[in-house]
Amino acid sequence: MAVDKKWVEVTEDDILIANINKYEDDNIIKYYTEKADPKYTYIEYQVIFKAVIDILSKSLGRSIKAVDVCGGAGKASFIMKKCDPACEVSLVDLSDKMLAVARQNMIKEGVEDLRLIKDDAFSFLNNTEQQYDLIVFSSAIHHFKDPIKLLVTAAQRLTPQGCIITIAEPTALIKSTRFKIMTFIFGHKEYKQDVVKSWIKYIVTLGESAPADDEFADIAEYQTFKGIDDKALSCQLNSAGLNTLVHLRYPAGDPLMLKVLPYLGLNWSFGLVLRKGKHPEDNRWSRELQDKIKSGLPFKINIL
Ligand SMILES: C[S@@+](CC[C@H](N)C(=O)[O-])C[C@H]1O[C@@H](n2cnc3c(N)ncnc32)[C@H](O)[C@@H]1O
Repeated sequence: MAVDKKWVEVTEDDILIANINKYEDDNIIKYYTEKADPKYTYIEYQVIFKAVIDILSKSLGRSIKAVDVCGGAGKASFIMKKCDPACEVSLVDLSDKMLAVARQNMIKEGVEDLRLIKDDAFSFLNNTEQQYDLIVFSSAIHHFKDPIKLLVTAAQRLTPQGCIITIAEPTALIKSTRFKIMTFIFGHKEYKQDVVKSWIKYIVTLGESAPADDEFADIAEYQTFKGIDDKALSCQLNSAGLNTLVHLRYPAGDPLMLKVLPYLGLNWSFGLVLRKGKHPEDNRWSRELQDKIKSGLPFKINIL
């Protein structure tokens, strides 16, 4: 949404409106319908979700109940169903159009029992009477001004053993020049075209098209432009009673980038596995999850 506003003035409601508008835009929907998924393997989702779902269902002695908040076209939901077809999964999203894509994907994936819920994340998490063993945010927390409040609100909906996964979020590395150069060299064609278009616009408008450092043309993507300080986020979550079992940084994206970026110190994406409060088995779970994730991923990651 083309609103240049200073970040301190932007409210959670402004961002919500920007997201509503963004995910009603047919170009965005087209991306999720045609482009996003065939290109990537999302191996990190498969490995992390499987590790967490296995440990939870073993401990609970039953299949888990999960919710994919800001679930969009359903990528995370379908991967959870693949990890354990018996797990009960709901997907919450505010966009009718994204939910329609998820509905089409249910047919493609042969998944009949994914429950689709149209709601804003905060409204859902504050009002649902359900408790979940696993709450997933995939490429989602960057859409909020206050991700800590969002995750702490989500934690209130966890069963006593439950976990939260947040995945596919940008660290502050995305602001670095070397990251920009590398993603331009190794990135996919559409990304290069977008970069070239924005350079042309910058030159034609004599620099006017670039927002000032504390202004953001697309407030729905504010945290994507800025990147998230994942270490600070994890510390603040720990202080708020959410214990980090796994904190990893990894090279999400194009297949070539997955191989190259870790060796350039550019593991730009992060994920967290969180649990509410302290449990006697936390250290064991943490070690087990980290081992499975490290050994299951075909690229170099950093565990923090
Ligand atoms: C970047 S997409 C990610 C979709 C999906 N989770 C994935 O990983 O592919 C963000 C999704 O969040 C949804 N969204 C944004 N703000 C939201 C909010 N406040 N409440 C619920 N959904 C929201 C959008 O409609 C969109 O489908």
